[in-house]
Amino acid sequence: MGLSKEKGAPQYSDYLELFWGNDRQLRSARFQDIFFSPNGIEETRHVFIEGNDLPANFKENFHIGELGFGTGLNLFVALQLWRERCPDSILQYTSFEIAPLPSKIITEALEEFDAIGDICREFLSEWEKGKIKIEIPNLAFELIVGDVRETIHTFNKKVDCWFLDGFSPSTNQEMWEEDLLQHVADRTKSGGTFATFSSASSVRENMMKAGFEISRVPGFGKKKHMLKGVLSK
Ligand SMILES: C[S@@+](CC[C@H](N)C(=O)[O-])C[C@H]1O[C@@H](n2cnc3c(N)ncnc32)[C@H](O)[C@@H]1O
Repeated sequence: MGLSKEKGAPQYSDYLELFWGNDRQLRSARFQDIFFSPNGIEETRHVFIEGNDLPANFKENFHIGELGFGTGLNLFVALQLWRERCPDSILQYTSFEIAPLPSKIITEALEEFDAIGDICREFLSEWEKGKIKIEIPNLAFELIVGDVRETIHTFNKKVDCWFLDGFSPSTNQEMWEEDLLQHVADRTKSGGTFATFSSASSVRENMMKAGFEISRVPGFGKKKHMLKGVLSK
């Protein structure tokens, strides 16, 4: 594909209308948003790892669900932590994604993150074979491809925690609709958790209606707040 990170290079256009911003961050013109902040690993740790009280909540057969796989950064950070803390067991990770990225783009988007470089390469060597189920040491991963509002119905498991990582609710409302977030709650174990970078009141209300006890806590970087919650049922 023709998307190149070189300055001035021709830009690739697809469903997400990807382009590299002047700050060399991967962006979607369709959703007018970035995939992660410049300090992406720290953002993932703050929002999704700490937001779900990991690694304290890790246990046997732990299952993470994610809305919005993007570059896989959240997976790589979570798997790295899992391997440190639970080297003898397997992390289940299911992610929903409408437009899977080619491994070249993922590699370029994450090239500055040396800390997860090895895990990323290990995963992508399977990903680039076009696999949607990937097993590498300590990981059983599944990608569910399509619009999550439809594909969520095919997922009949309950997870321990959710990484809600759609683009911003202001441009990607479909990832934060009441119906979808109810399906998320229905697929969460009792006492399970979620975390998201967003602090939008609509997200907060929809997650409350779905049965989560919500906390608004300090966000990452320029974001004043983010949301996290526990399924109270
Ligand atoms: C903010 S990005 C995810 C960032 C990602 N976690 C990462 O580490 O790069 C949001 C993702 O949601 C996906 N997405 C947007 N609308 C969707 C939909 N209706 N169903 C499934 N995925 C969707 C986009 O393609 C994009 O990859």
